[in-house]
Amino acid sequence: MSPSPFPNDPGSKSISKPAAIPVTLNVNGQERTLTIAPWTTLLDALRDHLDLTGTKKGCDHGQCGACTVLVDGRRLVSCLTFAVMKDGANITTVEGLATDGALHPVQQAFIDHDAFQCGYCTPGQICSAVALIAEGKAKTAEEIRELMSGNICRCGAYPNIVAAIQQAMGAKL
Ligand code: FES
Ligand code: FES
Repeated sequence: MSPSPFPNDPGSKSISKPAAIPVTLNVNGQERTLTIAPWTTLLDALRDHLDLTGTKKGCDHGQCGACTVLVDGRRLVSCLTFAVMKDGANITTVEGLATDGALHPVQQAFIDHDAFQCGYCTPGQICSAVALIAEGKAKTAEEIRELMSGNICRCGAYPNIVAAIQQAMGAKL
């Protein structure tokens, strides 16, 4: 067989596959150790390896916010983050927001204001809103809209989402 004219042609040489590596994440208060391929996103680690399917995959390109989780208290799109980059971090997903069976005030506010239709964007909206309130930068409806603009709602539930966040801001978080 003649050598391939293309040096990067996979057929021209064998390509070794990087080994799976251990990653430890503290997820919703529990330490979880996974052995995963180094390119596994935090989103796929949560959904496919830990069965935490509350966090949604929308665009998988960092553009819709459906995959937003809290990492050490800050909101982050988990589809653009490799799990290995967050080794040792504290991750909170929508499943971890309620305490002792009581909904988080942001979760309750979303129910009170019908702040969803299909619900697909809702876990990301709620996680993002929790961080937004902790950031303390949004004071008005306009500022809430601006600082929540990374979370897209295809159903257009925006007025209800803003109303829910305003209610939760008045609650003691
Ligand atoms: Fe991550 Fe859309 S799925 S931003
Ligand atoms: Fe359907 Fe937001 S409630 S995408």
